[in-house]
Amino acid sequence: MSENLMSRRKFLTKAGAVVGAVTVSGLVLAERPSPAEAVATAIPWPYPTDPALQPDPETLARHAYEIYYAAGCAEATWWPIVEVLSADNPTTWGTLPKSLFKYGGGGVASWGTLCGTLNGSAAIIAMTGAPTKITDEVMQYYGETPLPTNGIDKAVAAGWTPTPFPPQATIPAPLPNVPTSTAHSQLCHASLSQWTMTTGAADGSRDQKDRCAKACYDLVLKTTTLLNAYHADHANLPLGTLDPTIATCQPLCHSSAKGKMACDSCHDQVPGHALP
Ligand code: HEC
Repeated sequence: MSENLMSRRKFLTKAGAVVGAVTVSGLVLAERPSPAEAVATAIPWPYPTDPALQPDPETLARHAYEIYYAAGCAEATWWPIVEVLSADNPTTWGTLPKSLFKYGGGGVASWGTLCGTLNGSAAIIAMTGAPTKITDEVMQYYGETPLPTNGIDKAVAAGWTPTPFPPQATIPAPLPNVPTSTAHSQLCHASLSQWTMTTGAADGSRDQKDRCAKACYDLVLKTTTLLNAYHADHANLPLGTLDPTIATCQPLCHSSAKGKMACDSCHDQVPGHALP
């Protein structure tokens, strides 16, 4: 937990305000909120609507790249946004403990399920009260975009170098113009395997870490850009387009097949396979 968050907590506890409906193992808050007070901190939480006051997506995306090396992909994707919103919102965003999302690394405790960048992004989107369509857009962007985008190369060309993020004393510079792959899946295992098969890089290698750190950059850039646009004007809703198999396979035959993931990311059949 950062010093400023800690001191803010102490200050608010002294002032008699109750902070934090969140308890995490190992973290015991001094006071528990009464049910009425807990309701006051229920999401959605504030997000700036004035474009002049909104977080800069590029700055947060670079920070995500740095945090990845210290705390993994899910923490890297949620913490930059939590941190930047904490300053003006100490009783909501400011109550969240750093490292909460470390669990999401490697597709939840290295289980290879939902990519941590999507876990972190989806949490932030929901906490700001933005609609599911934005989550859909981010999930679909991850699955269907050649990643990493190498967009971070522009930051490097402009003279940016990563700042150490504790406990990591040094953060490797991004490798230039690395190979990309399109996952067609939101799963850590499937997407990372797709990339290692494309590149020949091994899991745990310098190249793999570089790819995942850049995915954090890409997803924070995407998420913050969408959130800024939506909260500035609620008419700025992305289409939230899903994979074409969702519009065909489910309504045609498989209404009980749960989910929005592309059916053909796991099944060999093509849409309409059993139709006359
Ligand atoms: C992440 C991988 C994955 C995705 C994505 C996926 N499935 Fe499946 N699906 C499975 C697995 C695993 C089974 C179980 C297969 C088995 O036990 O043989 C299954 C079973 C099924 C079955 C047979 C069970 C039943 O209820 O009749 C159908 C039909 C099916 N899926 C349709 C779909 C459709 C339609 C989609 C897209 C909306 C989809 N699946 C997306 C992995 C997936």
